[in-house]
Parts: sequence; structure tokens; C-alpha cells
Amino acid sequence: MKILVVGGSGGIGQALIKQVLASKPNSQIYATYHSSEPQITNDNIKWFRVDASSESDILELANQITDLDLLINAIGSLHTANKKPEKSVSEFNPEFFHHNLDANVVPTILLSKYFIKHLKSKRNTFFVSLSARIGSIEDNNIGGWISYRCSKAALNMAIKTISIEWKYKSQHCCVLSFHPGTTDTELSKPFQRNVKPGKLFSAEYVARQLLELLDDKDASDTGKFFSFNGEEIPW
Ligand SMILES: NC(=O)c1ccc[n+]([C@@H]2O[C@H](COP(=O)([O-])OP(=O)(O)OC[C@H]3O[C@@H](n4cnc5c(N)ncnc54)[C@H](OP(=O)(O)O)[C@@H]3O)[C@@H](O)[C@H]2O)c1
Repeated sequence: MKILVVGGSGGIGQALIKQVLASKPNSQIYATYHSSEPQITNDNIKWFRVDASSESDILELANQITDLDLLINAIGSLHTANKKPEKSVSEFNPEFFHHNLDANVVPTILLSKYFIKHLKSKRNTFFVSLSARIGSIEDNNIGGWISYRCSKAALNMAIKTISIEWKYKSQHCCVLSFHPGTTDTELSKPFQRNVKPGKLFSAEYVARQLLELLDDKDASDTGKFFSFNGEEIPW
């Protein structure tokens, strides 16, 4: 099996790599980092330094890989060093909004542009992006976090749009959004105080849930949004 984990340096990204190494030890893993290369070394892993919102970086990455069974985009951003998600629209800041789009939407669209040929195959392949339930318009009952929320809604629309186009162009590829649940990583650290007991998951648990979900899916499931527990989330 050949797997690309984009954002392999993140909390969930690293857990996915470790889970694949443990459960499918013969896999060839390609993984990307942005800031610093994680200390996961194994003969089956090849690391690339990539800014995933840069078109030239994604093109260069695509040129170094031939074919894939599974591409998982585990990149994302909720806060920066000086900006937390907005409690109210009165805190809206266009620069922070654009940062959210760059981290949460642009990478998936660039990956679809340059990796369609890697996922064209007669066997099942997968193109998966880590989204968030907060990006579901139907599920939005509490508001808040407008930049992150809009960026994940846009990501979900991108996934749906890619899935429709690929039904014709890459018929055996299953294109999905995945909600990991609140997971104990740098991304959720500032907000973990408010999480109900038992609702903060380890990255290892989430990685297992995602890989087990994919074992059960194929191209007939393309264009859907799944939660860590296997439940389908409305767009
Ligand atoms: N944790 C949660 O509670 C939670 C809940 C719902 C959804 N999610 C989603 O799950 C995904 C993974 O999140 P996580 O919890 O694992 O977060 P994390 O530990 O903060 O990891 C985020 C990753 O994104 C990478 N990244 C950000 N901007 C990038 C860019 N322009 N180019 C390349 N890499 C970039 C970071 O790379 P470097 O570290 O190398 O800079 C890092 O690998 C995200 O999409 C997030 O929105 C998480």
C-alpha cells in the first residue's frame, strides 16, 4: 500500500503514520511537514518539506511520487500565536480569515489538482481531508469561530465538488471529509478546559478510527462527510 500523509508532523498526522507502520508494516509512506521534521524514522517513510498552500510546493511533491492508494490531508489551523478563533463577528479580521482559508481549504484543492493521476487506478483509492463538524452548515446551532467555521464549510464544499468531478475522471477513488472529534493535539490545547469528560480523544484513537472506517468504504461512498464514530454528518 502506498500512502501520502500531508501534515504528517501534526498530532493526528503523526498518529496516522505510527498506526500505518504498526498495522500495515509493508506500506510505503510519504509524509510532509512544514516547520520541523518529526523524529519518526523508518525505512518505509520518506519525508518532504512542503508549504501546502504553495502551488509550486504541491506540484514539486506530486512530481516526486508516482501512484498512491491513499492520500490523507491532515493539515489545519484553528489559532495562531496572536489570534484565537472569534467568539463574535465583531472580532472578525480579514487577515486571520485568509490564514484560515490558506491552511484549511487551499491545500485540499491544490492536492486534488496535482494528485488525481496518482489516484487513478482499477482498485479502490482514497482522497481524504480532515475537516471538522463545525463546518457543517446544517449542524451549526451555536455560531462562533466564524473564520475556522467558514473555512471548514468551504473545505467540505471542495470535497463534495471534487467527488462529483472524479466520479467521471477517477471512478475508483473515494473522496471524503472526516471529522476527528476533539483530539488532544496542539490545535485543541487552548480549548481543552471546556471539553466534557470522555470527549477528548487521543490522536492514536482517532487515527485507528479513520483507518478502520476506510477499510469499510469504497467509491460508492464518495462525496460523504464521516465522523470518527462512523456516523455520516450532514453537509
Ligand atoms: N484536534 C482537534 O480537536 C480537531 C478537531 C476537529 C478537526 N480537526 C482537524 O484535524 C486536522 C489535524 O489537526 P491536528 O489536531 O492534528 O492539528 P496540529 O497538531 O496542530 O497539526 C496541524 C498540522 O498542519 C500543518 N500545517 C498548517 N499549515 C500548513 C501549511 N501551510 N503547509 C503545511 N503544513 C501546514 C502543521 O505543520 P507543521 O507542524 O509542520 O508546521 C501540522 O502538521 C486539522 O484539519 C484540524 O482542523 C482537529
